[in-house]
Amino acid sequence: MESIATMHDDIKEILFTEDRIRERLAALGAEIAKDYEGDHLVLMALLKGGVVFISDLMRQIPLKLDIDFIQPSSYGDATNSSGVVDIKMFPKIDFAGKRLLLLDDILDTGRTLKRVKTLLEEKGAVDIRTCVLLDKKARRVVEIEADYVGFHVDDFFVVGYGLDFADLYRNLPYIGVLKEACYASEDGAES
Ligand code: IMP
Ligand code: MG
Repeated sequence: MESIATMHDDIKEILFTEDRIRERLAALGAEIAKDYEGDHLVLMALLKGGVVFISDLMRQIPLKLDIDFIQPSSYGDATNSSGVVDIKMFPKIDFAGKRLLLLDDILDTGRTLKRVKTLLEEKGAVDIRTCVLLDKKARRVVEIEADYVGFHVDDFFVVGYGLDFADLYRNLPYIGVLKEACYASEDGAES
């Protein structure tokens, strides 16, 4: 049976501990609360990677707010997106009077977040900002910068705290670098 100990064996190095993430989210939440005070804020997470992030971040934002979800699917192998982004699940939301903050686990090439943002604008959203837990700037292919960033990260493939490899490791409580041996021969295509 898979246990946290065996998952942990696949991690080369821990980059962000639970404590460090908690501290950073408290600061990020306070900043967001200040910026959106008095407004109708909707936190919208990209599934599945943004699930842990939204769960913790929303409790650090002491405003009346809505949460919602959108599920993109990008095709490619388990460590690279191909650039083709479809929407598997679109939120049923009336955007009138609402300010949207899109949350994702990581900004990598930028294709996913840019495409999701464009699609939401086409559906009538006029006030969209973005917030990512991690920014892997060195990998950017399309022009997009997040309005809020948790941490900057070098070009390593990381897992944990919502981030997956082939849909595994999302439940690790910290963020770590996956050992190359774990993904050398695998295939997958989840967001
Ligand atoms: P992008 O479209 O290339 O920016 O890809 C964004 C998506 O790729 C994220 O939402 C993640 O699901 C995934 N991704 C990119 N880098 C990593 C990583 O280092 N670990 C796990 N998933 C990643
Ligand atoms: Mg993913």
